[in-house]
Amino acid sequence: MKSTLLEDLKVELKNHIDDLYQTDMPLVFGDGNPDSAMVLIGEAPGKQEVQKGKPFVGQAGKNLDQFIDILEIERTDLYITNVVKLRPYKVNEDTGRESNRTPTKKEIGIFSAYLMRELEIIMPRLVVTLGNIALKCILQDDKASIGVLHGEPAQTKFGAAEFSLFPLYHPASIIYKADLKDVYLQDLHKLKKYLKEMKIKE
Ligand code: URA
Repeated sequence: MKSTLLEDLKVELKNHIDDLYQTDMPLVFGDGNPDSAMVLIGEAPGKQEVQKGKPFVGQAGKNLDQFIDILEIERTDLYITNVVKLRPYKVNEDTGRESNRTPTKKEIGIFSAYLMRELEIIMPRLVVTLGNIALKCILQDDKASIGVLHGEPAQTKFGAAEFSLFPLYHPASIIYKADLKDVYLQDLHKLKKYLKEMKIKE
């Protein structure tokens, strides 16, 4: 059963990370239907994701939910995960406030081995990467760029998992760059058509 294999993988990853950081690290694992033909991959959880223990439940998650509505699919039919399963953050020395930061190459390296195994269990037909970090990780190409590859499906392999890759901008990017919204909507409509072609959605 895929769910049992994923549970075992979670335990293994949690032990690995707790050993590495020498503390009980709050991790956010993938969530959703492991039998789904389609997997969505983000970058890393934020504060709200850690509090709720689920990916994409904060502001970026709200944007993602709107995109999923455009695709006319149910979130519960999907499997959603992140490259990095801990929250990368920095602390402002003056105010003591925490803010999210981009994961380091080292963090991505540690977690991508587990993402590979996660996908090898699920064996999706389609992977939708959200943003640059997930795209570079799946293509194992640091030079890959979402600005160039967004909205263009490609066949790819990640470990033993082979699937169609559909790169989308990260849903948080339209919070900061409003001019991306039109491009994002066009990409979503291409994805909707592609889901029909692949018979993932009727
Ligand atoms: N951004 C991500 O990439 N993943 C989340 O889970 C939340 C925000």
